[in-house]
Amino acid sequence: MAPTSRAAWEQAYARVESALRSAGAASAADLPALEETRIRFLGRKGELTELLKALKDLPLEERKALGPKGNALKESFEAAIASRRAELEDAGDAASLKNETVDLTLPALRPPRGRLHPLTVTLREIADIFHRMGYDWAEGPFVEDERHNFSALNFPPDHPARDSQDTFYLEGLPLLLRTHTSTVQIRAMEASRPPIRVVCPGRVFRHEQTDVTHSAVFHQVEGLVVDRGAGFSDLKGHLQTFLEALLGRGTKTRFRPSYFPFVEPSAEVDVKCFLCPGSGCPACKRTGWIEILGAGVVHPKVLEGVGWDPEQWSGFAFGIGVERVAMLLHGVRDLRDFYVNDLRFLNQFDEDLA
Ligand code: DAH
Repeated sequence: MAPTSRAAWEQAYARVESALRSAGAASAADLPALEETRIRFLGRKGELTELLKALKDLPLEERKALGPKGNALKESFEAAIASRRAELEDAGDAASLKNETVDLTLPALRPPRGRLHPLTVTLREIADIFHRMGYDWAEGPFVEDERHNFSALNFPPDHPARDSQDTFYLEGLPLLLRTHTSTVQIRAMEASRPPIRVVCPGRVFRHEQTDVTHSAVFHQVEGLVVDRGAGFSDLKGHLQTFLEALLGRGTKTRFRPSYFPFVEPSAEVDVKCFLCPGSGCPACKRTGWIEILGAGVVHPKVLEGVGWDPEQWSGFAFGIGVERVAMLLHGVRDLRDFYVNDLRFLNQFDEDLA
């Protein structure tokens, strides 16, 4: 029952005050106990809340006299709660700090590190081997003219490779995206004098349907050597040295006659399948051999075209498919995996940077 006279209110006040004292907010054992005490007195139906609410039923004069007394009690209770809360919180922080340990001898966390793309690694590996064999590095533009991509390489005007079925032409311009790195043979010769020994790594483009072994964009490493008396036997020696460095000592190779307009004789080079020692598997299409590059002796017309005398100078050239080598080295079955940037695929090549 709410007190409705001054005397009754003062009695209620005395009860609440004594209850507050025995509740002992200032010595609450922990934060939940403290909160319980606060609610008991200052919650919506708390004892102190009710006492203060009852003031409004008293005459104005008495309210004026008693109001400050009630408010002072509330303030001192609130202050006691706040100071005990601060004490308990400090104690809690100190206790949890005591339980925390820092082991300064632990090795630091490694920051996450990027890595080179497997195609970049393979391309560099190929170029590095030739570098150790005395080859320089040469590059050329992706956007080329017909002369560097075809005519200077002895492709006749009606050669099917010039067809827009195979070649991306630039709309309204006499330009195209290079279909092979053989363009850089011409550029390197135009930019220097014989003798020359270069590798030309880079991206090439073909108007081709994409599938497990084809992509419209891929990579080649071209090689060109021009020197006095350089010929097919030198080509064989260089390629054998290269393939053994890449695939291991004693790697077996096979030169098959082929045709490329800028080299005569022309060959395609196979390596003995190293996934199935010759017995036949899907990687070698059950033949026991894997084609790995095209090569040949530089055609005299190509030398003449850049003003180098074919009576004095001769040479050889080769072109290696980087994706093909990377697929063989790492057992990748779908060439498209190199281009989708799926981290589950790329993370497998971690050791390549070690
Ligand atoms: N350019 C040829 C291709 O893309 C590959 C090639 C064959 C390059 C024979 C050569 C070579 O240098 O001698 O198919």
